[in-house]
Amino acid sequence: MNDLNTIIENARSAFAQAGTPADLENAKAIFLGKSGRVTELMKGLAALPVDEKKTRGAAINTAKQAIEAALTSRRTELAEAEMQAQLQAESLDVSLPGRRRVAGGLHPVSISSERIEAIFASMGFEVAQGPEIEADWFNFTALNTPQDHPARSMHDTFYVEGGCAAAPNLLRTHTSPVQIRHAVQHVKKYRHLIDAGQAMPEIRVVVPGRCYRVDSDATHSPMFHQVEGLWVGENISFKDLKVIYLDFIQSFFETKDLDIRFRPSFFPFTEPSAEIDIMFGSGPLRGRWLEVSGSGQVHPNVIRNMGLDPERYIGFAFGSGIDRLTMLRYGVDDLRLFFDGDIRFLSQFQ
Ligand code: PHE
Repeated sequence: MNDLNTIIENARSAFAQAGTPADLENAKAIFLGKSGRVTELMKGLAALPVDEKKTRGAAINTAKQAIEAALTSRRTELAEAEMQAQLQAESLDVSLPGRRRVAGGLHPVSISSERIEAIFASMGFEVAQGPEIEADWFNFTALNTPQDHPARSMHDTFYVEGGCAAAPNLLRTHTSPVQIRHAVQHVKKYRHLIDAGQAMPEIRVVVPGRCYRVDSDATHSPMFHQVEGLWVGENISFKDLKVIYLDFIQSFFETKDLDIRFRPSFFPFTEPSAEIDIMFGSGPLRGRWLEVSGSGQVHPNVIRNMGLDPERYIGFAFGSGIDRLTMLRYGVDDLRLFFDGDIRFLSQFQ
């Protein structure tokens, strides 16, 4: 019996030492193979007397079963280890944060600009655009602001190539040049009606866009945004401007608890001219007049430069600061925040 226990122990330790399935199969052959140790013992049975044969045979069989059990358990162990190793090697760290898609959004000034366009569109205004590099004629002269007019000094800007030496092109200082550009196109389109003494469809347009001036502090930046408004027809008055502007400003700020006033002012291209101030009846800005726009009745010389007869055509214009309106709407106190490009600031408007 002792020899059988020894064989079992030897088999177990050989199996334990086998580090791979192939090693294990080799170890198996040593004990259970055709000329393995157990097979040899079986062969030895033949030489034994009958009664011993029985007991010895049974004992060898038990030993064989023990070895087979050890083999099976080691096989399972190795298969398990192999599986674990594979899992380790191919593992995915599912706790790693994924790559996020950042949702972009509109700049607050763009949001305002689109709101303004939508509000005026609902009142029957077209939306037009003009170039940011502008000719002296459109930016100044056509707007009744000839060379050497003192009002030009408040509109200092960059002068660029193009135009002529006496009147080079410039970065436009307001959106008003588009009054002329748009009106001239409009008049060209309806010239036949005008010449036939018939009614021309009214000019009713808003023009949002970038403007440039030598100006820089918490409420002025060298680049800023304006929206120009122009309504010209045969019977348009300051009263219409007041109605339209109040309606616009109340829609923009989503409150009826808001009043406007017209404060006399001067612009070369309007006569009379006025600054438009607004006052909220409630909220953090309650009770203070805040300037938001220039405005006025279009000057006869400007009407003439549009190609129209100032005896017949009359209208109003206004130019409002979009940045300023945006600051008031969102309670932003420094204009420069809009142009720093800080995502922490900008993402608050999404
Ligand atoms: N263009 C003027 C400015 O920028 C504003 C304005 C527009 C005034 C239209 C009157 C009419 O200061």
